[in-house]
Amino acid sequence: MENVAVIGTGYVGLVTGVVLSEIGHTVTCIDIDENKVNTLSQGNSPIYEPDLDALLEKNIAENRLHFTTNHSEAFDQAEIIFIAVGTPQSENGSANLVHIEQAARDIAHKVVRDTIVVVKSTVPVGTNDLVQAIIEQELRASVNVQVVSNPEFLREGHAIYDTFHADRIVIGAENERAGDTIQSLFENLEVPVVRTNRRSAEMIKYASNAFLAVKISYINQIANLCEMLGAEVNDVADGMGLDHRIGRSFLNAGLGYGGSCFPKDTAALAYLGCENGISLSIVDAAIHANHQQSQIFLERVLNHFNGDMIGKKIAILGLAFKPDTDDMREAPSLKIIKNLLDSKAQVKVYDPVVHEINDFSHPSIEYTNSVQDCITNADAILLVTEWDEIVNSDWKQLIDYPKSPLILDGRNVLSIKELTNLGWQIEGIGQAAKPVQKKVLPIGQNGI
Ligand code: UGA
Repeated sequence: MENVAVIGTGYVGLVTGVVLSEIGHTVTCIDIDENKVNTLSQGNSPIYEPDLDALLEKNIAENRLHFTTNHSEAFDQAEIIFIAVGTPQSENGSANLVHIEQAARDIAHKVVRDTIVVVKSTVPVGTNDLVQAIIEQELRASVNVQVVSNPEFLREGHAIYDTFHADRIVIGAENERAGDTIQSLFENLEVPVVRTNRRSAEMIKYASNAFLAVKISYINQIANLCEMLGAEVNDVADGMGLDHRIGRSFLNAGLGYGGSCFPKDTAALAYLGCENGISLSIVDAAIHANHQQSQIFLERVLNHFNGDMIGKKIAILGLAFKPDTDDMREAPSLKIIKNLLDSKAQVKVYDPVVHEINDFSHPSIEYTNSVQDCITNADAILLVTEWDEIVNSDWKQLIDYPKSPLILDGRNVLSIKELTNLGWQIEGIGQAAKPVQKKVLPIGQNGI
């Protein structure tokens, strides 16, 4: 069993630390935020993530998991240091590496033994080489440091499950022994391992996330066409997904992708393409289509009221960018709410976990504590995040509460047939019951 330090206690760092301690390693997680370290040391997670709290408490109690603000305290014992700090999007779309570079300098200045540094953060191709160079230039002790790339593939809301049941672990190393050590660190997980050089490992992460984003934008555009032609996108996705070469996952049409990963990583990959003079027009198109998708949904809402939203009571069900998380980064709900408020609608919102949107206060936005509260007196209900609690509501009983029984299902999760039978007027995305009016684009122009 190894002694491990993890720099950064965001989603990736915290889950990595907790899982490594759960499989027997001794882990110290470092964060500069003292309040966060204190909260975590008491076994309380600052993020909502199923199963995380229980594992956090257990491994702290069993003395395998520690938290500190002091790098030296963690590095004195650690043979392996993970870097799991944020790589936020810069104005030009590129990934901002300021936290990565700072972590590399902290390691160079404070490490006292031969160490393997593992970059878990999502970073542009060549960043692991940069980390190696910074450490070599600034190293103060006479020790050997090897940098290994080990990108993360967990999904928020399924982070613990994904780490124990990953499809693969990618290890990119220039030094074979360092790669072997990191591989052995994970051997209790029994997950297939892919060994590559560092640059390929970095590229696997970006190429995977962008591919999934392309898949979503593709099905969203197919959905828009289905609606025009009277096809049902869920059936189309099922039919496509049975082809093993395609697969059904990430073919759920809706409001478009959000979160802290796909929007940022597609932008960073597009930037890398530009920087290197390589066309990534497919990725560019996916980004563009994603921006359009929430706009198309808003137009649908507006059409129901002939463009006059003044004083209309709109119920928003779901705020988080997807279910089972409290993460609001790039959540489609933000854009939708902002547009509705700009057009003078009154907005009532409900999310099982998000009870307030930070930095977003407006007199016409009303937070509620249940689906029923939220939809009471509503002129229209927008289903924005497909939380089980929302989807599985008692729609038969709920029909008495809104002013008008109109549901616009932005996630295609409610049964149009069942809800129509209950008296609801419901529309999904790409699910027109019959062909709707055509908007003809000249051949060769796909609207991009
Ligand atoms: C994503 C990847 O799935 C992870 O493998 C990766 O590790 C992570 O990014 C990351 O880079 O850290 P995450 O952003 O947590 O994970 O969430 P996803 O479950 O992938 O969903 C992303 C977005 O796509 C959500 O807004 C979701 O609503 C949307 N989506 C997903 C669809 O619109 N349709 C689908 O069929 C699937």
